Amino acid sequence: MRLRTARSRPLLAALALALPGLALAAAPANPPARVQASCTMCHGTHGVNTRMPYIPRLAAQSRVYLIEQLRAFRDGSRSDPPAIMYMWPVSEVLTNREIKKIALWYSSQKPPRPQRANALLVAAGHKIFLRGILKKGVPACMSCHGPQALGDGIYPRLAGQNAAYIKEQLRFFRSGIRHDKNAAIMHMVTAHLSDREIREVAAYLSHL
Ligand code: HEC
Ligand code: HEC
Repeated sequence: MRLRTARSRPLLAALALALPGLALAAAPANPPARVQASCTMCHGTHGVNTRMPYIPRLAAQSRVYLIEQLRAFRDGSRSDPPAIMYMWPVSEVLTNREIKKIALWYSSQKPPRPQRANALLVAAGHKIFLRGILKKGVPACMSCHGPQALGDGIYPRLAGQNAAYIKEQLRFFRSGIRHDKNAAIMHMVTAHLSDREIREVAAYLSHL
């Protein structure tokens, strides 16, 4: 009996570390030096760049997702062309510690504001987000990304993301060019999405 409790304790501790969200960390007051030096130029210090639509907003993004992506750029498993061109050179030098700090910084920034979008596209995209497209076997996006698209764990936040970036990533998943560790789920989701439906759902999400 005694032996069992002694043994299960480290196991529980390991489990707690492995479960995202359980390892609580306070929001930092100042950006890590690395953010200012290597990321601000494109993503902004607070994760909301406004001028460059193909560069994703990182503010309030899921911390776990950010860690996963920075590792995927660093180990080369996220290998779509803009990833190779822009993110491989900057992620190559990041240590695990830096990745965690950067992820904590951007995930604790104020969420991006909704962006303008065409009302017809937004309405059609809303339907796909809530219900999927039954006859094509496209699942409802909200079932994984959350009812408000706020994301959690490995599921990215999509609310307020740039439409151009969302469209590009959905095409990358559909063609299989983006094939990092958790991308297989999105290959299945996008397999039967048309370009029009991609535009609709991107308009809806950027407008949230
Ligand atoms: C020269 C511009 C540039 C710089 C500098 C840059 N990025 Fe990026 N970043 C991009 C682009 C472009 C993408 C989209 C890549 C793609 O399409 O796969 C991106 C994607 C990302 C993503 C994925 C976000 C998502 O929603 O999947 C993260 C995380 C990220 N960058 C973090 C950083 C961090 C941290 C730094 C600094 C260490 C940094 N970036 C520096 C241009 C840049
Ligand atoms: C079964 C769960 C699941 C469903 C359903 C789902 N997604 Fe995803 N989605 C994911 C996961 C997991 C990722 C992260 C993939 C990765 O790490 O490569 C993701 C990534 C994304 C990204 C990339 C975000 C970024 O910042 O790079 C977009 C865009 C996206 N999903 C849109 C959608 C849309 C639109 C739908 C509905 C048509 C949808 N997803 C349905 C699980 C899901």
